[in-house]
Amino acid sequence: MNEDKTIWWDDGLFMIDQTKLPVNFEIINIKSIRDLVGAIKSLKIRGAPALGAAGAYGIALAASLSKNNNVYELQQELEIVGDTIKVARPTAVNLSWGVDRILKVAMNAETAEEIKEATMRAAFDIAEEDIRINKALSRYGAKLLENGDNILTHCNAGRLACVGWGTALGVVRSAIESGKKIHVYACETRPLNQGSRLTAWELIQDDIPVTLICESSSGSLMRKGLINKVIVGADRITKNAVFNKIGTYNHAILAKAHMIPFYVAAPLSSFDLQHEEAAIEVEERDASELCIIGDVRLAPEGIDVYNPAFDATPIELVTALITERGIFRPPLTPAI
Ligand code: MRU
Repeated sequence: MNEDKTIWWDDGLFMIDQTKLPVNFEIINIKSIRDLVGAIKSLKIRGAPALGAAGAYGIALAASLSKNNNVYELQQELEIVGDTIKVARPTAVNLSWGVDRILKVAMNAETAEEIKEATMRAAFDIAEEDIRINKALSRYGAKLLENGDNILTHCNAGRLACVGWGTALGVVRSAIESGKKIHVYACETRPLNQGSRLTAWELIQDDIPVTLICESSSGSLMRKGLINKVIVGADRITKNAVFNKIGTYNHAILAKAHMIPFYVAAPLSSFDLQHEEAAIEVEERDASELCIIGDVRLAPEGIDVYNPAFDATPIELVTALITERGIFRPPLTPAI
């Protein structure tokens, strides 16, 4: 078992079931592509970089399970599996990035045996690389934080959203490691509460000072001077917008109104510079997420619901993008 990672291979594919946190820490064994797609759709594994690793391991898992010894037929089989995995969650670009990177390895192999070995090795490399990249971007990002900062973050862009360490929360971790005192305001992040369930949990685990707030209080806290920086992660960065958990745009507008820096920390695997905002599919999730919590009904039966999982923040509202290659400031498009 490898509990400092969200997903790993150990004679089988394992992951933390994030839907059980913060009450229970449970590890699940993913035995089939059906299990994997189910885990992705139900957010047992979630967060863009973690989805990249899940997509990569998905292809390696499919190769290891296949009885097909014909190299060409196995390659075709894996392409079909890749398509199934990619549509499980369409907005975070890392999922298809991870799938495509391993498919390429499979396409370059010459035997079925080589496909099995090479895809597993490459998926492992993606997972290890994720932690290294997050630490690299965090070192850059930490320079933007000052002793005594009060940081607002939205959703969970921590180690649970990645294979390890984290992006937005990785920056906080690195700043603290370098001796700075940092306090985090974690937005609860309705409707699935990744902020209160996951961000709050992982920061408490690491003894990082954290205060839970509902997202609608961020403007008021900024006005009172209680927040002096915002750092979030990203599911996809296009030429002109940053896609992240629904509600991120509100914080960006409020940060601008209060002249507070708004930072986005993301690996280059979250960049999709071939596309503009309008081309991107925003995942819409089930109405039940807004209407029911556990056994409690929060809204009348039959109510019309709109539940997009992500929003887009225009790139002009971003003070700087923190990546493993350094910090990019506006005008961002030519710099990227
Ligand atoms: O629906 P989720 O929980 O997968 O959404 C995750 C986010 O929006 C994160 O902020 C984003 O993936 C960045 S993770 C480093």
